[in-house]
Amino acid sequence: MDKKATLKLSDGRTLEFPVLGGSIGPDVIDIRSLYGQGGVFTYDPGFLSTASCASSITYIDGDAGLLLYRGYPIEQLATHCDFLEVCYLLLNGELPNRKQKEGFVNTVTHHTMVHDQLNRFFMGFRRDAHPMAVMVGVVGALSAFYHDSLDIADPEHRKVAAFRLIAKMPTIVAMAYKYSIGQPFVYPQNSLSYTANFMRMMFAVPAEEYNVNDVLVRALDRIFILHADHEQNASTSTVRLSGSSGANPFACIAAGIACLWGPAHGGANEAALEMLESIGDVSKVGEFIKKAKDKSSGVRLMGFGHRVYKHYDPRAKLMRETCHEVLDELGLHDDPLFKLALALEKIALEDDYFVSRKLYPNVDFYSGIVQRALGIPVSMFTCIFALARTVGWIAQWNEMIGDPEQKIGRPRQLYKGAARRDVQPIDRR
Ligand code: ACO
Repeated sequence: MDKKATLKLSDGRTLEFPVLGGSIGPDVIDIRSLYGQGGVFTYDPGFLSTASCASSITYIDGDAGLLLYRGYPIEQLATHCDFLEVCYLLLNGELPNRKQKEGFVNTVTHHTMVHDQLNRFFMGFRRDAHPMAVMVGVVGALSAFYHDSLDIADPEHRKVAAFRLIAKMPTIVAMAYKYSIGQPFVYPQNSLSYTANFMRMMFAVPAEEYNVNDVLVRALDRIFILHADHEQNASTSTVRLSGSSGANPFACIAAGIACLWGPAHGGANEAALEMLESIGDVSKVGEFIKKAKDKSSGVRLMGFGHRVYKHYDPRAKLMRETCHEVLDELGLHDDPLFKLALALEKIALEDDYFVSRKLYPNVDFYSGIVQRALGIPVSMFTCIFALARTVGWIAQWNEMIGDPEQKIGRPRQLYKGAARRDVQPIDRR
């Protein structure tokens, strides 16, 4: 039987709406006819109760601590797959077989270089610019370089744009870093894996050999997998909204990067690391927890709590495991910040304040420590997030373009300004 929802307005009218079911998760009330039927809008700032689209890519059950990409639990993907397999999955809906993977990796690998003139684009930025400022500009500028992948109505153009973005993002992130520290750009080396190549472009210098460390490469690859998509978050919704007007993919991804830059979205791992540094010592943990529980202090336990996860963030568990592996590999088992993080987590998980509010560690709690151990400076953390999330943005953008129900995004509003009035001549105002 078709499910329906009825809405009774105070003037006595009763409106009826279809209720749509997804494959899992809550049903949604289809209110598209609300204004037509009732002459009213809904009010939902921040989209707390609004599904902005239908999607088959990522599913989160925050109460159960569940994250699925195309149906596969993140734990299994992070354990059995590499980042490019996950990219293939997000873009195509299925995991690749060996042959498909080979073809995909080969194509991505052969798009890693950027147009040589783009190198000069970097020179226009101050060296002390935030790397995310550079990213927004340079990724947006890709649409000025790759005219043969701008026609969004052409599936082949969309495919090439997707490959270009996934392949060139590590090159651009590494260039932004090299530029900020005054070192020469390192060109991609196609004999290396996606992530090893990125690490080399970040850390190699022409004067020395660069040796790839597989444990560290695997750790970064896992960071990429864990950040690859997270359904309709702020930056993904930004990409969809930008794309809904028909804007080209490079411009849309630049918009996503701009949104991700905000501290409430991509900047939390930086904040978590700064918090650990400011606490400084395990002996101060008790005092800090006290402050985090005191609302008047304005202090929060950064890396704890999540709008959607009201259970242990499944990505945080994997990140904690990776943290152990990386610190062991580098002989940093006694890393004071990691010890501090473990002590903080232990106390918070037993404290009634955090337990009763369902505040658990999120992915950012440990990812800053891992990135710091890999040698990635704090200013680059959000760029790494952008690199990883690019595939999610593209998959969601592609899904939107192919959706027959897609329309230009155009929210309504509750207007609270002046009612109609007349302009007075300037000497009577
Ligand atoms: N430390 C101390 N108290 C907290 C924390 C925290 N980290 N997070 C939430 N609380 C408390 C709030 O004070 C509130 O208490 P109350 O009910 O007594 O008033 C309660 O828990 C609910 O908090 P809200 O802010 O309403 O929860 P919301 O779901 O809106 O916020 C958020 C989620 C923003 C992530 C929040 O938990 C937070 O600020 N965490 C720290 C920042 C952080 O780690 N952000 C990363 C998010 S993950 C990501 O973006 C990839």
